[in-house]
Amino acid sequence: MSCIMIINGPNLNLLGKREPEIYGTTTLAEIRDSCQKLADERGVELEFLQSNHEGAIIDWIHEARERCDAILINPGAFTHTSVAIRDALSAFNGPKVECHLSNVHTREEFRHHSYISPVVNSIIIGAGWRGYPMGLNYLIDSLADKK
Ligand code: DQA
Repeated sequence: MSCIMIINGPNLNLLGKREPEIYGTTTLAEIRDSCQKLADERGVELEFLQSNHEGAIIDWIHEARERCDAILINPGAFTHTSVAIRDALSAFNGPKVECHLSNVHTREEFRHHSYISPVVNSIIIGAGWRGYPMGLNYLIDSLADKK
């Protein structure tokens, strides 16, 4: 069975309560539940993780090299700052999706640049919580194409 790792970066544990006019009212637990339901329906294993710490996220990406086939990541603010997360993702060979709930390009200028985008296969921006199942479907289809 294929394994897909979904990694959430800083402050995403506050989803639902945090600036709902930007990020919506859906909580991270609700996003996890819809991703798990989709993973069950499509017959893949899911690891759904969140951390506020850059090093923990890098360690998980390294672990994914051993036990996962694809990664979906919402790096939160680390998108705009972290060369280290980009390097870790670059060293992961399976398909990768970068996902943002909000449309970062309609927001402050510092959010317009992503260190992550050049090292992923697909970017989903501004689709709210629905971006996660969209990205997950894409990754499952990509893995199926390779078989
Ligand atoms: C975000 C966008 C980032 O700019 C921001 O720092 C976040 C969330 C999003 O999902 O829209 O924490 O990644």
